[in-house]
Amino acid sequence: MTDMLIAHLSDLHISAGPPETAPVRRDAPDMARLVVADLMALPQRPDAVLITGDVADGGSEADYALVRQILAPLPMPVFVVPGNHDQRGPMRAAFGTTVPYAAPDTLQFEAQLPGVRIIGLDSLVPGRVEGRLDAAQLDWLQERLATGTDPVFLMLHHPPFPTGNAHWDASALRDGGERLGQILQASPAPVRLLCGHVHQPFHTQWAGCYASVGGSPAFQYGFGFDQDAEPALTDGPYAWWMHHRREGGSFAVHPRCLALPPRDDLP
Ligand SMILES: [Fe+2]
Repeated sequence: MTDMLIAHLSDLHISAGPPETAPVRRDAPDMARLVVADLMALPQRPDAVLITGDVADGGSEADYALVRQILAPLPMPVFVVPGNHDQRGPMRAAFGTTVPYAAPDTLQFEAQLPGVRIIGLDSLVPGRVEGRLDAAQLDWLQERLATGTDPVFLMLHHPPFPTGNAHWDASALRDGGERLGQILQASPAPVRLLCGHVHQPFHTQWAGCYASVGGSPAFQYGFGFDQDAEPALTDGPYAWWMHHRREGGSFAVHPRCLALPPRDDLP
């Protein structure tokens, strides 16, 4: 088993026009360009880039054309799952030639890389902030996990685990989380669960798996450990994760912190 690097980015919120979501910085596309440039300048580039949803802010065809343009310099496979700000039709049209979305009505997929599988889940509920996984999606996941023992990177926008904040817990994965946990506990393949949505990067352990939330270059929350209060926005560095599979099969997760230009709209 050889070395492998997998980058986990999230929540780029790129829009061709003004952002639709209030906290998204107006220059979010430029911030995504900085992330891509930083990634390309690394001494060792990742073998694959996984983006856990909200790649677009509004989800129009023009938004996804811009997303494709911004991600175009990345020569490695790029896998994306939808978040609540994405739209399935335009997203499939933009990424369907490079991401093997299988089902006609969801953007779930499975891809095999050397010694590692990538599985993407689609928790988007049109018009809703919160997410869900239905029985058919979970049946499919259970079946896919049973087919091999390579480590699996499981991409899911809405965290099924507690975020430590009541506001985010109320708008995270609302349906399907309990069964998802049972499936992961019983999985013959070790699973690494990668999420987004919360815009505050952290790692945790859930259902016997390493689990994490990626940061966002479009807006990010600072530290806030009062579960009933929304944390303050910060223009502190954008944080994403580099997973390193070392020879022998162990994993390490390295934070990559990228200073972004200050926002001009924070108090
Ligand atoms: Fe987001």
